[in-house]
Amino acid sequence: MSDTFEFSQENRKLVEAVIAKYPAGRQASAVLALLDIGQRQNDNYASGAVISAVAKLLDMPRIRVAEVASFYTMINTEPVGKYLLQFCTTTPCWLRDSADVVSATEKHLGISFGETTGDGLFTMREVECLGACVNAPIVQINDDMYEDLTGGRMVEILDALQAGDVPPHGPQIKRQTSAPMGGPRTLTDLDFVKS
Ligand code: FES
Repeated sequence: MSDTFEFSQENRKLVEAVIAKYPAGRQASAVLALLDIGQRQNDNYASGAVISAVAKLLDMPRIRVAEVASFYTMINTEPVGKYLLQFCTTTPCWLRDSADVVSATEKHLGISFGETTGDGLFTMREVECLGACVNAPIVQINDDMYEDLTGGRMVEILDALQAGDVPPHGPQIKRQTSAPMGGPRTLTDLDFVKS
């Protein structure tokens, strides 16, 4: 990370392709996409320099780009670890014991929400519903969703990441996607359909 930023040649092409999707004079609509491309190039951090680069490219006042960056939680306006752990604690996840997943992580890593481990590997963040309640509780790790978690399974995932492995994302119990526990069922399995 540094306080200067320029889009790489590869990302510059991507940026131009995104901007070209919008009508002339409406380039500002590309602001979120450009912030995302910028932060991915900058260790997942939309620094002041990234914001300035986006503003310049889109010919927008810097403050307008900064307003967008600070509004959306998927844009990181503070440095984060290599793995950004986003814990959903909204009601469905809470009912399925997200607190166990959070406390096991806090105990294992020695950090709490808003903090990053000393080795720069992990940042913990509390978020609202991630839209995957059917497989609660959920933790989003960078771009991937880890579902049907327990505190014990979360610690295994953290250990794997620390060792340089990336465990498979998705349900962490034996179920197919969001099928009911005990395996997929069809309408004909239901008692009222049988009778
Ligand atoms: S409440 Fe956690 S994903 Fe919806």
